[in-house]
This record gives sequence, C-alpha cells and structure tokens, in this order.
Amino acid sequence: MPTITFANEKKEIQVPAGANLRKEALSAGVSLYPGIHKVANCHGFGTCGSCRVLITKGMENTSSKGIIESARLAGLLAYIGNEGTMRLACQTTVKGDITVTTCPPMNMFGENFFS
Ligand code: FES
Repeated sequence: MPTITFANEKKEIQVPAGANLRKEALSAGVSLYPGIHKVANCHGFGTCGSCRVLITKGMENTSSKGIIESARLAGLLAYIGNEGTMRLACQTTVKGDITVTTCPPMNMFGENFFS
C-alpha cells in the first residue's frame, strides 16, 4: 500500500493504490484548503484550483496531469516556478509513496517567479 507523507502536518497515512489524494487527505483530517476555500471550493471537480499541493517526493508515483488539471494549473500564479511539483489534489491518483506539502505559499519574490 502506498504511503502519503504530509510534510507540514508530520502525518503519514497508508492508502490503497489508485486512491484519490484529496479524498484520502480529507479522510485523514488533513486540511487542503486555505482560508475561505475551506467552504468555497469546487469539491473535487478540478475547477477552483484551491486544493493545490506540492508533491515534493514521488511525483512519478502519481497519475499524469489530465486536460482539466493542466488547464487549471496554467491559470494559477502560484504554478509559476512550481511546474514540476504542483498538482491539484482532487485530480491526483496515488500509485506509490509520495510526500506532500499542503497549502503551499505563493512565492512572488523567489528566484523563479520573475525569471
Ligand atoms: S477541489 Fe477545486 S480544484 Fe480541487
């Protein structure tokens, strides 16, 4: 069974292969949504972008980005500089061990943002 490690929460959970990252996180009591997005989100349809996370280890153990996810991420400022690690939890299937950072901050002044 794959293990999801939530870095900020210092929590590990085991999930069945093929599990949805959003559903498993919420079931484990891990908050994916910052601020108002706790109630104002698209509930997993991939349209609001508020469930974004960083997969800091094991990206190869997740599903590929689909059209909806790719389009939504491309419209997020926070995606700039995080193209290799950012996913929408609701659109991500877990196939193996991964490490996840929830509610990643937007780094507008980092070295990658304006480059
Ligand atoms: S819950 Fe809205 S994009 Fe994932």
